[in-house]
Amino acid sequence: MSSKTEHKESQLSQLIELLQDGECHSGQKLADRLSVSRAYVWKLIQQLQDYGLELESVSGKGYLWLSASSLLNDDKFKSALSALGISYDYSLISQSTNEELKNNFCDKHLVAAEYQEAGRGRRGRNWQSPMATNLYFSYGWKTELPVQQLGGLSLVVGISMVEALEPMGFDDLKLKWPNDVRFAQKKLAGILIELNGDASGDLEVIIGVGLNVNMQNQKSEIDQDWTSLAILNGKPIARQNVLLLILEKLQSNLKRFEQNGFISFQDAWNCYDETLNKEVTIIRAQDDLHGVAKGVDDTGALLLEADGELQTVYAGEVSLRVDDVGSVNG
Ligand code: BTN
Repeated sequence: MSSKTEHKESQLSQLIELLQDGECHSGQKLADRLSVSRAYVWKLIQQLQDYGLELESVSGKGYLWLSASSLLNDDKFKSALSALGISYDYSLISQSTNEELKNNFCDKHLVAAEYQEAGRGRRGRNWQSPMATNLYFSYGWKTELPVQQLGGLSLVVGISMVEALEPMGFDDLKLKWPNDVRFAQKKLAGILIELNGDASGDLEVIIGVGLNVNMQNQKSEIDQDWTSLAILNGKPIARQNVLLLILEKLQSNLKRFEQNGFISFQDAWNCYDETLNKEVTIIRAQDDLHGVAKGVDDTGALLLEADGELQTVYAGEVSLRVDDVGSVNG
C-alpha cells in the first residue's frame, strides 16, 4: 500500500472512531480533531458514505452514525483474541479477507476487515461489505483430515454460528444447506470455504464468513431477501462481542469435527435444518434437480428424494433454492 493510501485510510479510521460514540459531531469539530479543513472532512464523509457507512447529516448540527459500533481494532479485542490463541490481521479496507488469508496463510489466524472491495460469495457472486457495518472475516485452519472428509465443514461452521448466537437471544435461526444462516427465510450470514495445498498433505482451510450485523437500510444490490442481527434485535449490536463468541464456538467445534467427524453434528444439523421435507431445487452447472430435501447423511451431503429415489448431493459448486410450494409431509 502506498503511504498516501495508508494516510488516507488512517484518516478514515480516525473519523469513524470519532463518530463511534453515536453522537452528532459538527464538521468543524471533526476538522479540528483531524487537523484538516472542513471541506476535506466533507470529502472523507462522502468517501465513507460511498463505502456504505450509514451516516446521517443533521442540518446545522453535523454528522451522526446511527448504527455506531466499535471498530475491530482495539487492544481489548486483540487481547481477547490472543487469549483464544488466535493471531490477527486487521485492515480497514481489504480486497477480500479470504484472498488475503489465502495469500498469507497461518493456522488459527484471523483476517478481518471493515470493508471489502471485492468480497467473494459462493459461485462467483459478490459479497456486499458496507463499511464497519457487518462482520467480514476469514479464519485459517490447518487440518490433517483428507479433503473427502471436509464435505460437512461448512455445515459445522453454520452450526457454530447458530450455537454462538442463540445464547445472545437470537432464537429460531435456521441453516440452509450447505452454507447459509437464515431467519424467517431471509439470509443472515454466508460461509465460503476455500482450500489451499496438496490434497494428500496437511490442508490449509480458509473459512470465510460474512454476517449481517448492523446493516438495516442498505440500498444494496443483494439479489435475495436478507436480514441482520440489528433488525432482529431492534437496535445495533457490538460486533466485537459477536465475533469473539463465534470464534470460540468455531474453535471447539473444529476440534470435535476433526476428532469425531460430521456424524457428531448430524443431530444438531437436523434441529436447524430449514429445508427438511421441503421441495427444493438444486442448481447445478449443467442442469437443475428438483426434489424433496430429506436432511443430510453422516458426511453432511444432502439427501434428496427425486424421481422416487433417495439421491446424495454433494455441496461443491451447487446451490439450493427452497421452492414456494412449501413443506411436504413425511
Ligand atoms: C455466500 O453465502 O455466498 C458466502 C459469502 C461469504 C462472504 C465472506 S465475507 C468474508 C470472506 N471474504 C470473502 O471474500 N468472502 C467471505
